[in-house]
Amino acid sequence: MTLLDAAVAARRNAHAPYSGFAVGAALRTASGAVFIGCNVENAAYPEGSCAETGAIAAMVAAGERDIVEVCIVADSPAPISPCGGCRQRLAEFAGPDVPVTMATLSGQTVTAPLGDLLPLAFRSVRTGFD
Ligand code: THU
Repeated sequence: MTLLDAAVAARRNAHAPYSGFAVGAALRTASGAVFIGCNVENAAYPEGSCAETGAIAAMVAAGERDIVEVCIVADSPAPISPCGGCRQRLAEFAGPDVPVTMATLSGQTVTAPLGDLLPLAFRSVRTGFD
């Protein structure tokens, strides 16, 4: 199963009754393991979480921290990119060269390195703007 297939499968389990916008995410780690997530909305809207956030939580709960590849998918006219918060969450566990593939259900894909999506990601220990 490809990372895209895994993201598509996760998307099917999205809980998105408020926005009607289901998202799936899949991460591959250095070990080769794949972790998936979907968006989980809530009646109290701000309590909802993104697909990427769910996949990151599953990865960390399994004892892994080293993301080497990311894929997100939605049924949108063009690929969606991760929200700002999720870019920062990804940057906690993925370097700037990690490829992020953004896909639609209809088969369009765009891939960009995380560093292009979030230049100058915040780090609590920063030695310079490198
Ligand atoms: N959403 C994600 O799951 N990932 C993103 O990168 C962007 C947005 C979700 C949040 C919300 O449940 C729905 O898409 C509409 O914003």
